[in-house]
Amino acid sequence: MRVLITGAGGLVGRAVSEHCAAREDDVLTYDHRSLDITNVALVTATIDKQLPDVVINCAAWTDVDGCEFDHARSIAVNAQGPENLATASRKVGATLITISTDYVFDGTKKGFYTQRDDPNPKSSYGAAKLAGEQRSQQAFARTVVVRTGFIFGPGGTNFLSTVVERGMRGESMKAISDAWGTPTYAPHLAVRLRELAERDLPGVFHVVNSGDGASFEGFTRAALRAAGCDETKVETVTMESLHRPAPRPANSRLRCLLSEAIGLEPLPNWEDALQEYVASQKRAEMAAQS
Ligand SMILES: NC(=O)c1ccc[n+]([C@@H]2O[C@H](COP(=O)([O-])OP(=O)(O)OC[C@H]3O[C@@H](n4cnc5c(N)ncnc54)[C@H](OP(=O)(O)O)[C@@H]3O)[C@@H](O)[C@H]2O)c1
Repeated sequence: MRVLITGAGGLVGRAVSEHCAAREDDVLTYDHRSLDITNVALVTATIDKQLPDVVINCAAWTDVDGCEFDHARSIAVNAQGPENLATASRKVGATLITISTDYVFDGTKKGFYTQRDDPNPKSSYGAAKLAGEQRSQQAFARTVVVRTGFIFGPGGTNFLSTVVERGMRGESMKAISDAWGTPTYAPHLAVRLRELAERDLPGVFHVVNSGDGASFEGFTRAALRAAGCDETKVETVTMESLHRPAPRPANSRLRCLLSEAIGLEPLPNWEDALQEYVASQKRAEMAAQS
């Protein structure tokens, strides 16, 4: 498969690039510097020239609080960007997979959010991501939207990705106890994104690791236990106490109605995924020391 990956320098972009390369795809990686997805002329020229079978869009402006203060940039990257890619993919007949977020939901539901639930984003980031879903689908019927959330993995700079490393350094940390999501291991997400590229079935998919989900605090404690750092001090905090500019859903746990129906196995349980991540972090640390 000839796969063009945007946002290839990010957490998910790196995992997808590595997985596709391991599957011996013809991988064309573009980070922010080499392809700005807001630049419609460059997006069109690049896709025209490279003629990929599939475009996997991992690029986004993921600074949720930053998006509250710069709606124009949030819309340009998170809504116009996917539309640019959809229009360019349509021109050459490439499938487009674009990643969206659990933050399109308002968080008031008690159970898991499925494709039957209406999005109702509360943040500028969530609203722009939802607009990105809709605009890319309108521009190109062959668009696959993948909603995911609570991503962790190697090289990630977000809270969930850094817990293990910080625990191994003995650093204390604060963890939110009243926001729940479904943790998703970036390398597992990458496998599923490629499977969806092969299926070429348009629509909205929810892709997360299996299990009942976790709060940030629950994830943190599980990660520290898995890393053998139970002694690390974790201060429990509420979302409200942090006074962050962007509202976040209190519950954004996802479940998919479609994946199993098209024969895809559920992704491994998030706690097993976490063990895998901790083992990889420990291997990386040992390699760095030797
Ligand atoms: N992380 C999560 O927990 C989470 C949860 C739900 C959904 N998602 C979604 O998952 C996808 C991947 O996110 P991630 O976690 O991998 O985030 P990430 O690590 O922040 O990666 C996003 C990448 O996009 C790049 N980028 C920003 N603006 C761009 C532009 N205009 N053109 C091209 N590239 C641009 C960034 O480069 P610079 O840093 O150099 O600007 C960064 O390398 C996104 O769609 C995100 O909305 C993430």
